[in-house]
Amino acid sequence: MATVRLLLKTLTHGTTSLSYPLLVRPRTQLFNSLRAFSAAALSPPSTAVVYDHQGPPDTITRIKELPPVEIKQTDVCVRMLAAPINPSDINRIEGVYPVRPPVPAVGGYEGVGEVYAIGSEVKSISPGDLVISFPPSSGTWQTYVVKEQSVWHKIDKSIPIEYAATVTVNPLTALRMLEDFVDLKSGDSIVQNGATSIVGQCIIQLARDRGIHTINVIRDRVGSDEAKQKLKKLGADEVYTESQLEVKNIKNLLVNMPEPALGLNCVGGNAASLVLKFLRQGGTMVTYGGMSKKPITVSTTSFIFKDLSLRGFWLQKCLSSDKAKECRSMIDYLLGLSREGKLIYDMELVPFNNFHSALDKALGKQGSQPKQVIKF
Ligand SMILES: NC(=O)c1ccc[n+]([C@@H]2O[C@H](COP(=O)([O-])OP(=O)(O)OC[C@H]3O[C@@H](n4cnc5c(N)ncnc54)[C@H](OP(=O)(O)O)[C@@H]3O)[C@@H](O)[C@H]2O)c1
Repeated sequence: MATVRLLLKTLTHGTTSLSYPLLVRPRTQLFNSLRAFSAAALSPPSTAVVYDHQGPPDTITRIKELPPVEIKQTDVCVRMLAAPINPSDINRIEGVYPVRPPVPAVGGYEGVGEVYAIGSEVKSISPGDLVISFPPSSGTWQTYVVKEQSVWHKIDKSIPIEYAATVTVNPLTALRMLEDFVDLKSGDSIVQNGATSIVGQCIIQLARDRGIHTINVIRDRVGSDEAKQKLKKLGADEVYTESQLEVKNIKNLLVNMPEPALGLNCVGGNAASLVLKFLRQGGTMVTYGGMSKKPITVSTTSFIFKDLSLRGFWLQKCLSSDKAKECRSMIDYLLGLSREGKLIYDMELVPFNNFHSALDKALGKQGSQPKQVIKF
């Protein structure tokens, strides 16, 4: 049977046994708990976004109260504060992501919370600490999460929760892609599509910090002029809509900038072809997203005469490799940048009660929207 530190006692509530820290409990409940101090340490009940089978996220997800779960000796119970809705979360619910939790499942993959209670053998984390789920794992869209201590990473309390909640999936992807494929130096340039995405916004700022120029491609849509201005403010050197790049020789657009050795593809289809066109002889395009759901087409000549390389990036693979430890340090570095205001990106914090309207926005039902981050 698990035990938790003295901060926790047990409270009987009807037929269910619940555990609450003494520090946050009303006096009457405290009295009740002292009479019933024998059961296993349990989390509070959790309000969660659940789905019973895969399908369209807006129709199959529902908010459900889940019963308390046992806090084992090496477990940490976290009261979630915020978690984003990322495209991969949507893909997991749809059933099109290669790795997904068995159903029924709770949605979400990354997020931040405050430690609520710890098992008796947990030494490095204390109640009140701010932690992110790292490596991230399924089930962050709920008010209380109980997981083994090794999947929580303690972070500085001064970091705004929306940045802590979102640092792993997208900023870490941006940083890894800048480091892992091409040896880039100050003065070099890179090209990317999907530049308005969080990954894209991070690429721009991390590259600027290293003296690397960015050529950015965005889609033609309402508000594209405003989006261009925003990206330039973040440090983008050039921003083009796809239609602006329907020119005979795309390389004529490169003024005072070397041809890029690295291209980053978030979108596929025509947007990927544009990235390939910018690349220099022997350049590499890394594909990490497929937002247009369209395939990548590569001309025969670009393989033969330009000797281009096509690579792929998947963060999940990185996190389960020998790079996992390095990724933790990278997370701390990225959070440090956000705390100093050197790594910012568009987000909208949405109360948990409004989950389904946030989901609709994340699904693109209302056109382009900032990243939706649920606040619990
Ligand atoms: N491989 C990995 O390990 C890894 C890790 C992290 C992220 N990703 C992928 O990276 C991509 C971006 O993720 P994110 O969270 O940074 O994105 P995000 O902030 O949620 O933004 C979504 C982006 O997709 C664009 N977009 C949406 N629908 C589109 C369409 N039909 N055609 C073209 N562009 C479209 C949006 O452009 P507008 O601004 O014009 O709406 C925006 O740039 C996703 O595909 C995600 O799955 C992959």
